[in-house]
Amino acid sequence: MNKKLVIAIDGPAGAGKSTIAKLVAEKLGYAYIDTGAMYRSVTWKFLQTKAAFDEQLISELAERMVIEFRPEASVNRVFVDGVEVTEAIRKAEVTCNVSKVAAIGPVREAMVAQQRRMGEAGGVLMDGRDIGTVVFPHADLKIFLTATVEERARRRYKELTEKGEIIDLATLQQEIAQRDKQDSEREISPLRQAEDALLLDSSDMTIAEVAAFIIRLVQEKENVLCNN
Ligand code: DC
Repeated sequence: MNKKLVIAIDGPAGAGKSTIAKLVAEKLGYAYIDTGAMYRSVTWKFLQTKAAFDEQLISELAERMVIEFRPEASVNRVFVDGVEVTEAIRKAEVTCNVSKVAAIGPVREAMVAQQRRMGEAGGVLMDGRDIGTVVFPHADLKIFLTATVEERARRRYKELTEKGEIIDLATLQQEIAQRDKQDSEREISPLRQAEDALLLDSSDMTIAEVAAFIIRLVQEKENVLCNN
């Protein structure tokens, strides 16, 4: 039997991490943990309170809330304290506030603790910003997935317009660049490539090509670990 690994996929917003991670996890029979969805869930929970931005309140919510993933055929359903938030956490109001929430130290501590519990048994593919650097610094395989800002904006534009949303490509590009800046410059666990991560630029690759590449890497690793 092959050993089930811990795989970390980090990278900036819109690089295709979640689409690819979902495909790879499905193909390999691994659990997929979307850690961005966890920070979005905290943001959603806080917005429900209608309170003004308050780090202590947000930290307390993050420490108490239970986040669950229930994978289904094409969606990874997300639940917060038993309430489904799969779609709610993708709304603009959440997206606009999530970087600020993700920069709060105790929020990150609470999420990292949950993420480590979810991944400790292996057979897990986790995507985010700090998985290879902070959450699982000893992950069996680390990928830093990126693409140019222009390409990432184009992909998000296509995704949103297909859902019927009306948006401007230039504005989207600015928002992505702004989010990159906030995520890379924050004090705690900024977005950065782990030294031992493999840099994969997907600008000129299709989703299927990137997924196939990662699957091959995982299978090679599984065999190496198995034969040792
Ligand atoms: O991947 P995403 O766009 O759903 O992530 C939402 C936000 O959460 C984004 O601003 C970065 C932040 N995030 C983080 O700080 N650490 C993670 N491991 C995952 C996401």
